[in-house]
Amino acid sequence: MRVADKQRRTAIGFEEGRTTRAGWFNDLTRSRFAGPVTEHNRVLARSVSPETLAVHAGTYEDPLTGSVGTPIFQTSTFLLDDASYAAFSDGAMRDVPIYTRYGNPSQWAVQEKIAALEGGTSALVTSSGMSAIASTVYALTNAGSHIISAYDVYGGTYNLLHEDMPSAGREVTFVDPTDLDAIRAAMRPETQLLLFETLTNPLLKAPPIREIAELAREHKALLVVDNTFLTPLNMQPLKLGADVVVHSATKYLSGHSDLTAGAVVGKRKFLDRIWAQALRFGGTLEPLGCFLLERGLKTLALRVQRQNENAREIAKYLAAHRQIAQVHHPELGGAQYAGLERDSYAGFGGMVSFEVRGGDDAALAFMRNLKVPYVATSLGGVESLVSMPGNTSHSSLTARQCALIGIRPGLVRYSAGIENIHDLVRDLEDALDALDGGGPR
Ligand SMILES: Cc1ncc(COP(=O)(O)O)c(C=O)c1O
Repeated sequence: MRVADKQRRTAIGFEEGRTTRAGWFNDLTRSRFAGPVTEHNRVLARSVSPETLAVHAGTYEDPLTGSVGTPIFQTSTFLLDDASYAAFSDGAMRDVPIYTRYGNPSQWAVQEKIAALEGGTSALVTSSGMSAIASTVYALTNAGSHIISAYDVYGGTYNLLHEDMPSAGREVTFVDPTDLDAIRAAMRPETQLLLFETLTNPLLKAPPIREIAELAREHKALLVVDNTFLTPLNMQPLKLGADVVVHSATKYLSGHSDLTAGAVVGKRKFLDRIWAQALRFGGTLEPLGCFLLERGLKTLALRVQRQNENAREIAKYLAAHRQIAQVHHPELGGAQYAGLERDSYAGFGGMVSFEVRGGDDAALAFMRNLKVPYVATSLGGVESLVSMPGNTSHSSLTARQCALIGIRPGLVRYSAGIENIHDLVRDLEDALDALDGGGPR
């Protein structure tokens, strides 16, 4: 076992015939391989469909037991040998098992699966979505640089950009993510990074990712896209020109509301830097978490397909209900989605938000009437969840900030699970009927 292990180590880090010797991992010009992967990970052709990649890509095929699932490498450290020392001196510690904060086969298996799904050459899994985002933003910018993001980006990301970046020497401009002219106007010679989400929370605004990527390229800035709300099943931002994709894997990727995790995907030259930053922050994902994430990902395609359908049906039902003032969902069209780049999407995800007539009190009463979804923050799990952004994810915003974003009283955010759509719609119907002034539409 140990001999085979050494051979594997030799094979994954330092192949003969490599044109440029590996420099320090932080050097963006050195030649790189995909991964990290070992010879025991399933690496499938990227032409394979996402459903198949979700099940098979990356799985560690254990040579000792033939286990059909990746073992949980529940260890904090690994035996050191000559290959390990060579990896240290050549700056290739990301490719060999040394210490779990640096890398672990449980991470590599799930990273390969996520990289395959997003169409990137390398991925990193982290202890939370915020760990992925913070590591990425710090790694890809320098003091003295400028960042552009959306004023309604996820609250944790907003706080990182608004509270921490100025003291770290990065200036940030917040814009309307759907307004390409505003983004263009915000560009400066020192702009290094643009950070946008594929669908915003909670109003499901749809920024023109392809056009933003073009703009970033023209200005030699990097585009980081948070694809949490859509998942690679609905959009692959790297194919649209983004440089790096980040996820709160807590949501759809793991899919069962039982894990906090994050992911970053892109070219290995970026991922090596982000990995190094994540090491310093201490935010890599532990082995049991990798197992849960890998298991969840195997059903991603089925779950997302059902959640897309359920959200679409819920949006259509609510749009026709007299107790509902407005529904936000790309499938419904309308002025909000006038510039939608339809061919960038395979689907619009499992989220829908809507305003209950009568404001926050009516919305609260409506949520209490619901029998199927849990009233809880978060999203993307197999169970439907419902919450009011005004008193959960966006509670730290002032009334003026809410108005600027477009969050009005009575706004409810619904994360459609994989339940039967007839049960979900009947439940909504009953909950609305039970409101004062309600009644069958
Ligand atoms: C779009 C988006 N990005 C990032 C995050 C942060 O993820 P985590 O809670 O896993 O740190 C969230 C959390 O809700 C989110 O909705």
